[in-house]
Formats: sequence, structure tokens, C-alpha cells
Amino acid sequence: MKILILHTVPYRKIEYHRALDHAAHDVTYVGVEARIADLPADLRCEKIVIPGVAEPAVEIGAIASPADGYEMVMALSEFDLHEAGKVREHLGVPGPRYGDLLRFKDKILMKRLVAAAGLRVPRSLDLRTAERTAEKSAAAASVPWEGRTILKPTLGASSVGVHVFGSPREALAFVARPENHEYFADGELEQFIEGPILHVDGVMEGGIPRLIVASRYISTPLEYAWGEPLGSAQFRMSDGYRAFFLGCLRAVGVVDGAFHLEVIEGPEELVFMEVANRAGGGDIIPTTEASTGVHIPTEEIDVLIRAQARRLGRPLPGGPVREVTKTEGPWFGWLVVPGHHFPEASCRVTTPDWLAGSGAVVKLRVAQPPDRLKKSVTHQYWEVPAAAILRGGDDAEVVEVVRRLREEIRVVPRAAEVAR
Ligand SMILES: Nc1ncnc2c1ncn2[C@@H]1O[C@H](COP(=O)(O)OP(=O)(O)O)[C@@H](O)[C@H]1O
Ligand SMILES: [Mg+2]
Repeated sequence: MKILILHTVPYRKIEYHRALDHAAHDVTYVGVEARIADLPADLRCEKIVIPGVAEPAVEIGAIASPADGYEMVMALSEFDLHEAGKVREHLGVPGPRYGDLLRFKDKILMKRLVAAAGLRVPRSLDLRTAERTAEKSAAAASVPWEGRTILKPTLGASSVGVHVFGSPREALAFVARPENHEYFADGELEQFIEGPILHVDGVMEGGIPRLIVASRYISTPLEYAWGEPLGSAQFRMSDGYRAFFLGCLRAVGVVDGAFHLEVIEGPEELVFMEVANRAGGGDIIPTTEASTGVHIPTEEIDVLIRAQARRLGRPLPGGPVREVTKTEGPWFGWLVVPGHHFPEASCRVTTPDWLAGSGAVVKLRVAQPPDRLKKSVTHQYWEVPAAAILRGGDDAEVVEVVRRLREEIRVVPRAAEVAR
């Protein structure tokens, strides 16, 4: 097949060669200079560099045309999954269109779909349709909840631009300030749901899960954005939980490819938070592989190739589909320690003495001065002060070791190493 890949996730996370026979397929990677530079030198492929200034679909549209004969457009990143829909339209390639893909990006749209399936979602107010200045108080009166309130971009990621307020009224007063008006173009208010946050990761094929693994965050992604370490531990999901997760995935329409679903374990019931039709970030890919043997991107690419072969009426590559559900130990977890919040350029990390002999460490990476700290929120193990994958005999043991490391790991920011 002649495949155009929107290459946005670093190569080392996807490892395209594991799923894609680059001799059998004609593969073209398109991406910004840094991404194209991370392709292995000996990989048989074509490369197209785009500036990365305008929308990817616009930049790709200026370079590629239907005459190029692409038969498939593949995108595995939160940032270009929906853009790929526009590229397909431009190139006349079959596959999901922008209008089909927006539901995995637009948090209001996905909540509406989940609610329509009879599953619980937080109450929310779409600021894009709210009155800007006119009668904030009137708007406040129409917000159907009280108490803690989340303000977030509707199309956001990595908790960027997310704030918590004591009440909808306070959140609206914040948004009404001229410097915060951007939330009227891309923002929503949401009822804050108390409780641990779950993330559910896997791969779907034809609406049926090939892989499904449930984990519970230790602290929250939002606290990570504020500078707290973020941990996670897998757990054995009950039939009831599994039914809720699959209900959300089906409601939003995750049919083919990887998914990352986030759900709050609310005081009375599970509450949907968000879903993406792509692999989870941070160390979710290697942790899942360590625990199930399934490499999410490899599985996902296999599914996407099969789906495209079906659309093109070609013979289906690959064997029969099997499902992997994580129900047995050992159980795995991970911890990622942020550094984006430090004004300093570098840091020094100390791990507790018990860690090395604990038998819990599957992988540990600690930044060494003069490693530079990235200033924007990142969960990538090579860009943060420390990232660990940990294991335990039962799920309580994983929670314990992730918590303990979270408490005892020390990160001291350093300015001294700035000059190399
Ligand atoms: N309704 C909510 N109740 C409690 N916490 C929330 C709620 N919505 C978002 N959050 C917090 O904000 C974080 C980011 O929100 P999310 O909807 O996952 O957007 P994204 O991850 O795309 O930035 C969540 O991980 C969670 O910590
Ligand atoms: Mg999220």
C-alpha cells in the first residue's frame, strides 16, 4: 500500500518498523524537521518536511496531491488525528473524515455522545455558545450546578489551560476578564467531580477490544501540570467497570485503533471524563507492553492497515483477532516526576536507597545534569527529571511502591548546569 504517515509522535514511542513492513509498503513520512530527523537512517521510506507553522493539513495540502496516489493516510497523535481527516479529503483517500474525528478532540461533543448513551458525564457549559460579556450573572444562574468548577479548553491536552474554581460564578468572573476571553473561542466549564481518576488503555478493532487495561492515577494529571509527580497503577477491572468503559468507547464511536479513556470514580458512580482515539501518553505504552506483551502502536497500526485493506477491497493481512484483557498479576505501574515548573534549566535527582534492591523496578530513567528541562508540560521520560516503570505481585503492592517512590524521590533544580 502507498501510505502517508503524519509523523508527530517521536519515533521511539511508535517504532513503526515493528508493525509496518517498509519493504512491502511504500511509506512516506511527513512532519516537522525534528520529527523527520528522528527516523532511523536505514528505514526504507520517503520523507517530507513541513514548516510546522500553519495547520498540518494546510501545509501537507500544499505539498501532496491526489496524483501522488496515496492509498492510506495514517495519524497516531492527538494533535493530528483529526487533521488527517482533512488530508484524506484533499487527497481523495478513503478513511475517516475530519467530521468523523472531531468527537475524539472536542470534549463537549464527546460528553454529549456519552450522555446520550445513558452514561454519566459531568454537567458542563459550552463557553463557545455563551454570552461573552452580557450578564455574567445571568449565565451563572443558568449553570446547573454549584461548588467546585473546572475551566478547560474544549480542544486541549495535557491539562494546559485547566483551572479549578470554588464555584461557577468565580470561574465566569475569571473568563469575563478580557485577557481570558480566549475561553469563549475554545472553552467550557465543568462540574468538578471528586474521586480518583482512572485511565483505560487499549486497542479496538471493528468496535471490539483487542486489548483493554485499566489503571488508577495516583494524584491527578492536573496536579502534575502544577508540578506534582504523577503515578499510576493497574488494577483488575470488574465486569461492571468494563461495561461502563466499553459503553463510553462505543458511545463516542471508537471503532478502530488505540484508545485512552479517562473516567472519574465519583462518590456514587463512574463518571466519564474524556476519551482519545490514540495511545495514552507518558509511559503507558511501555508499561502495557511489560505487563501484557502487547505494544499498543504495533497493534494499532495492524488494525488500521486491516481497516484500510477492507475499505480498499484488498485481502486482509494479519491473523485472527484475539482479545487481551489484563486480569492477572504481576501488576505494573509508573511514576513520572515533572520539571517544567522549575525556573532552573537543569536538576539533580536522588532516588531512595531501598529502590534498587526492591525488585520493583522494571525501568528507571533519571535526568543527569546538564540534561535540559523542558519548559512546557511534558510526560516523555527523556524530557523529565525522573520516570519509572514499577511492578508488584498484587495491585496493592504496585500502589504502595508507586506512592512510596513518589514521596521519597528528591529533585533539586539547579541553575549551575545551564552553561555546557
Ligand atoms: N470534571 C472534572 N472533575 C475533576 N477533575 C477534572 C475534571 N475535568 C478535568 N479534570 C482535571 O483536569 C485534568 C485535565 O482534564 P482533561 O479533561 O483530561 O483534559 P486534557 O487531559 O485533554 O487536558 C484531568 O486529568 C483532571 O485532573
Ligand atoms: Mg486528560
